[in-house]
Amino acid sequence: MSTSLSYLQIVLSLCLLFCFSLPFCVKSDELQILLNLKSALNKSSTPNVLDSWEAANSVCSFNGITCNAEGSVKKIELSSQKLRGVLPLDSICQLQSLDKLSLGYNLLYGAITKDLSNCVKLQYLDLGNNLFTGSFPDISALSELQYLHLNGSGFSGTFPWKSLENMTNLVVLSLGDNPFDRTPFPDEILKLKKLNWLYLANCSIEGKIPPAIGDLTDLIDLELQDNYLSGEIPVEIGKLHKLWQLELYRNLLTGKLPVGFRNLTNLEYFDASENDLEGDISEVGYLSNLVSLQLFENQFTGEVPAELGEFKKLVNLSLYTNMLTGPLPQKIGSWAEFDFIDVSQNFLTGPIPPDMCKKGTMRGLFMLQNRFTGEIPATYASCTTLKWFSVSNNSLSGTVPTGIWGLPKVTMIDISLNQFEGPITSDIKNAKAIDKLLADHNMLSGKIPQEIWELKSLSILNLGHNGLSGSIF
Ligand SMILES: *[C@@H]1O[C@H](CO)[C@@H](O)[C@H](O)[C@H]1NC(C)=O
Ligand SMILES: *[C@@H]1O[C@H](CO)[C@@H](O)[C@H](O)[C@H]1NC(C)=O
Ligand SMILES: *[C@@H]1O[C@H](CO)[C@@H](O)[C@H](O)[C@H]1NC(C)=O
Ligand SMILES: *[C@@H]1O[C@H](CO)[C@@H](O)[C@H](O)[C@H]1NC(C)=O
Ligand SMILES: *[C@@H]1O[C@H](CO)[C@@H](O)[C@H](O)[C@H]1NC(C)=O
Ligand SMILES: *[C@@H]1O[C@H](CO)[C@@H](O)[C@H](O)[C@H]1NC(C)=O
Ligand SMILES: *[C@@H]1O[C@H](CO)[C@@H](O)[C@H](O)[C@H]1NC(C)=O
Repeated sequence: MSTSLSYLQIVLSLCLLFCFSLPFCVKSDELQILLNLKSALNKSSTPNVLDSWEAANSVCSFNGITCNAEGSVKKIELSSQKLRGVLPLDSICQLQSLDKLSLGYNLLYGAITKDLSNCVKLQYLDLGNNLFTGSFPDISALSELQYLHLNGSGFSGTFPWKSLENMTNLVVLSLGDNPFDRTPFPDEILKLKKLNWLYLANCSIEGKIPPAIGDLTDLIDLELQDNYLSGEIPVEIGKLHKLWQLELYRNLLTGKLPVGFRNLTNLEYFDASENDLEGDISEVGYLSNLVSLQLFENQFTGEVPAELGEFKKLVNLSLYTNMLTGPLPQKIGSWAEFDFIDVSQNFLTGPIPPDMCKKGTMRGLFMLQNRFTGEIPATYASCTTLKWFSVSNNSLSGTVPTGIWGLPKVTMIDISLNQFEGPITSDIKNAKAIDKLLADHNMLSGKIPQEIWELKSLSILNLGHNGLSGSIF
């Protein structure tokens, strides 16, 4: 009895020694699994990362593979490698220690089979940005997941929302840009209290944003754009104090920005454009860390909050096609490297804020179809980064600062339908990039500078309804 036991012990320790000193034995299964993966993903003819996967090498030395201390495959990291083929999940999920499978941004196709539910150790799964087809299988067994990226990968049908209900460790959930069947906002997500990144854009979510969204207080990013969300923005959203980015654009949202909104003081990116929102935008006056504010194509009324003039990080502001009234804060855009303003098609009054190009970075000024008065501030004549300058259909007057005509990068100048006077100067010869010059319906006078006919890029010119003279051609 004792002899046979020690004999067994010897055999066992010999086997262990053998396995330890040579990278096959137990690991030979893992080698086979990876070679199988290699042959499944060799559909692209171009050389790729898998060329280094050779039977003669240890799997732990393969590019993109990380092993644990025992020499078992723990991580497969092969995103953005132009890999093409069908994933053999039946074999991959036999890797007992696999906790990370990262295959985003490849050219993988075919279906994701229910074999995926054998990958029970996974903490990180990225199959996003591929070319899969069919619906996504139940993954309730993957209870340790912390990161789940399936965005932009062609999944259709009904997503197995139920699978998520116990995945309380999820920190990142990215399911957007998939043509799922229409669904109400999935309640299962509202239980995932550790979420800090939730990307559910463009994946056919309809109905209301549930008030319980306010319980996901670790959210930093909440992206729900391009869905069919309707009803009002719940006041509970004001509880998401950590939010840095909130994207709600292109939905069917109605009502006002809720009062609690002012509490989102960490918000830097806010976009609620292309909805049916109404009421004033005074709540955004409290969001002093905003870098980009996009509220265009809604029904907002009232004034642009004066506080926006003090926002130190603001670089992009789009409020076009609303019903806003009153003046713009005069210091708006003067603090950071300001880029774009588009406040067109409102009922705004008063002067054009003078300092939006103070840092010398501004590219677009769109203020058409309002009731702005006064002159074009001379500061813009030296704004050499400007590409688009459109102030048409306002009540602007005075002489156009000469440098405006010759902005070196400008492709479009539209000052039509105002009361500008004075000449178009020969500075125009410096506008080497100009494509479109509209100055009609003003009180411009003097001779049309001959240099205008030498501008090679100019394709659209309207100087009609002015007091200009001189020859054409
Ligand atoms: C891919 O691997 C299979 C199986 O090993 C092989 O038959 C096929 O020729 C390979 N194709 C390419 C493009 O390398
Ligand atoms: C989409 O998935 C990729 C990985 O495939 C990830 O890097 C990216 O951040 C995701 N996009 C969003 C908006 O979550
Ligand atoms: C989640 O956990 C509960 C309680 O343990 C269980 O009844 C339920 O079936 C689980 N859900 C899923 C999808 O596994
Ligand atoms: C929405 O997702 C579809 C794939 O389902 C994609 O083709 C489309 O480009 C996405 N739309 C936007 C605006 O990103
Ligand atoms: C906003 O903050 C104030 C003051 O901290 C608090 O009284 C109010 O309840 C908060 N609103 C929301 C919706 O969280
Ligand atoms: C500002 O808007 C422009 C044009 O849409 C974009 O290219 C740029 O990245 C934006 N900048 C920031 C900081 O969002
Ligand atoms: C000018 O703006 C008014 C509204 O302020 C609008 O009714 C009119 O159509 C606009 N004219 C042109 C030519 O765009």
